[in-house]
Amino acid sequence: MTLNQFKLLYQDQLAPLYPENEIHSILQIVCEDLLNWSRADFLIKDREELYHLQEEILHKSLRELRTSKPVQYVTRTAHFYGHEFAVHEHALIPRQETEELVHMVIENHKKETYLNIIDIGTGTGCIGLSIKEAMPSCSMTLLDVSPEALELAQSNAIRLKTPVKTILEDVLVLDELPDTYDVIVSNPPYVRNLEKEEIHRNVLEHEPYLALFVDDSNALIFYRKILELAQKALKAEGILYFEINQYLPDEMKALATELGFESEVFKDLNGNYRMMKCKRNLK
Ligand SMILES: C[S@@+](CC[C@H](N)C(=O)[O-])C[C@H]1O[C@@H](n2cnc3c(N)ncnc32)[C@H](O)[C@@H]1O
Repeated sequence: MTLNQFKLLYQDQLAPLYPENEIHSILQIVCEDLLNWSRADFLIKDREELYHLQEEILHKSLRELRTSKPVQYVTRTAHFYGHEFAVHEHALIPRQETEELVHMVIENHKKETYLNIIDIGTGTGCIGLSIKEAMPSCSMTLLDVSPEALELAQSNAIRLKTPVKTILEDVLVLDELPDTYDVIVSNPPYVRNLEKEEIHRNVLEHEPYLALFVDDSNALIFYRKILELAQKALKAEGILYFEINQYLPDEMKALATELGFESEVFKDLNGNYRMMKCKRNLK
């Protein structure tokens, strides 16, 4: 078969799940990540007969994609902030919005050296490892409650040759963080069950519930706990960065004020409130 024929086959079989342009991108990702093709290869190899092994890979990927599995779990790779991260079903696939959070932290701190930083709820390690790559003198700790996710973060650290500390802990039961930090950063679970309707089938059926959802009645549980821990663990001039639920910026600001922090919220490129920056209010 040729790539052109696969393009038609993918369009035909994935049409119930995705729009046409997304199917095109999905096949391109499969070719780049599993056949090691460049973007140019994808454009010019349209009519070449594929090798048997290449055909097998494209057929197998299509079978998995038809179950609504996200393409990153099929290729077991995600691209984030210029780096390649291994992913699997126990860790959230890194999102574009989160790149904006990482960019904000790096822009605000890249001129400082030897900062002590912790990434709470690290998943693949995408936040902490991208920051450490950009600011190599910092000391980075990655924390997660999921052993599978933390192991993945460790293997991503090895892959990037980025030395980090890791902590396997449930942040909700911690009395204190193990050190004091210049920067605390977290993208904790924040999706309420009432928001499930907005979420695509491939996320609901394949990404870890533990990484995404919180009780509707206690949606800010992680933020409250992390802010409480930060009351002691954030250095006087330290900064806490959160990715936040776009529907709850006012509630987040009120919570930060209640717990003794000055805060600011920021919109992402889609115009949704997505990032928050907090400083201890020492007045
Ligand atoms: C929204 S995901 C973020 C993953 C990654 N930091 C990212 O931005 O792609 C939340 C992460 O928090 C972790 N998590 C959930 N409950 C936790 C808990 N009680 N203590 C520590 N980590 C937790 C999940 O395993 C998951 O990796």
